[in-house]
Amino acid sequence: MPDSATETYTSETIRLLENRVSIRKYTDEPVSDEMVEAVLRAAYRAPTSSNIQSYTTIVVRDPDTKQKLSVVAGNQKHVAETPVFLAFCVDLTRIDYALMKHQHNLHDNNMEVGLVSSVDVALVGMSAYLTAESLGLRGLMIGAVRNNAVASAEILGLPNRVYCLFGMCLGWPAEQPPQKPRMDIGATIHYEKYDADATLASLDTYDGALAEHYESIGKTTTPDSWTHDMDKKFHPPLRDKLREELKTLGFDFR
Ligand SMILES: Cc1cc2nc3c(=O)[nH]c(=O)nc-3n(C[C@H](O)[C@H](O)[C@H](O)COP(=O)(O)O)c2cc1C
Repeated sequence: MPDSATETYTSETIRLLENRVSIRKYTDEPVSDEMVEAVLRAAYRAPTSSNIQSYTTIVVRDPDTKQKLSVVAGNQKHVAETPVFLAFCVDLTRIDYALMKHQHNLHDNNMEVGLVSSVDVALVGMSAYLTAESLGLRGLMIGAVRNNAVASAEILGLPNRVYCLFGMCLGWPAEQPPQKPRMDIGATIHYEKYDADATLASLDTYDGALAEHYESIGKTTTPDSWTHDMDKKFHPPLRDKLREELKTLGFDFR
């Protein structure tokens, strides 16, 4: 794709996404309930697999709840300090009800149910993120609620068959960090067929670009920044207890 593509074709949405960066510091200015509701109402128009609408969002403002969630999330202080925290939950209770109403049950829910319901939540979450940005809010997704899915469920009072897939800090920005470079899109966009050579060709360059970025913001890094981070993140396996925790919460992922 030519670099000029986003210069030729631009829109407010393209500009928002082209400029976006995760924001971890917020001003004291409140985010009204009406604003959050407007964001979520728009986000809920996201496509939903077979119309399952397998999501529930919990709007958290209580400082004690945010503090507890921040501890689960590895003491991420922005979780405690954000004006509002949205907990995006995968919710199978309504599907469970639908099946029971027709003399069946969801006891044997499988990988497909787990996958499509989680995808639905991700679509709503990103739609909410983008909608919030269109109003000038800024935010950060928080996957670390899955450090302990059961503890997050307890804090949020989630019943069986509901788990928090990720959260989102939302507020008015009090920082403007530089954007984190992305991989060359030649590696991640292929045409007609998968291109295995292109996939890996620019990773060394990306390692260097990311190292340069981290150095420029004073963050400790290594010359092989991205591959090093991925190795550190996934070896040994990340959140190894998640499958068991989700099973406890009513998700089989068989
Ligand atoms: C599902 C998801 C979960 C995330 N969880 C966290 C998190 O727990 N803590 C955090 O600081 N950033 C989190 N992030 C933000 C990513 O680290 C960030 O998007 C990525 O490093 C790229 O940086 P950028 O968003 O500024 O471009 C998460 C992002 C996503 C999509």
